[in-house]
Amino acid sequence: MSKLCEVLAIVRTNKMLATKKALEDIGLPSFTALKCFGRGRQGGRIEELTYPVSPEIAKKAEEATYNFIPKRLVIAVVPEAMVKKVVETIIKVNQTGQHGDGKIFVLPVENSVRVRTGEEGLEALF
Ligand SMILES: Nc1ncnc2c1ncn2[C@@H]1O[C@H](COP(=O)(O)OP(=O)(O)OP(=O)(O)O)[C@@H](O)[C@H]1O
Ligand SMILES: [Mg+2]
Repeated sequence: MSKLCEVLAIVRTNKMLATKKALEDIGLPSFTALKCFGRGRQGGRIEELTYPVSPEIAKKAEEATYNFIPKRLVIAVVPEAMVKKVVETIIKVNQTGQHGDGKIFVLPVENSVRVRTGEEGLEALF
């Protein structure tokens, strides 16, 4: 069986739509997106948000003892041969050069099974 990989990408909320379109454009119809919160090495400082927030929210965030920034988690299980393209595509859409542009992790996947048919591995992906 060809190897399968899971690409986990944590991206900005305002990049989700463009990320989805770009993944569709490279032939990736199936993936999962979750609303999540995260912090990188800036510890979730408010400047990481690239969109404006009200002074009240900014004050609250500065005073919080812990900080998390709203993010989107994109989960795509793909053939190993597609990983490079998927990673490049996510970078292309999400790289602004500002802190908080996101993080991508690539993990090995043991198997996949399409529940409706019982197909496994590559056949069960798309
Ligand atoms: N080591 C990690 N483990 C799990 N999640 C992480 C890790 N690093 C980053 N993340 C997730 O990725 C999101 C975006 O990270 P971010 O782009 O801020 O990375 P960074 O390492 O702080 O780099 P930068 O300096 O460019 O901001 C975080 O909010 C968090 O959800
Ligand atoms: Mg960061």
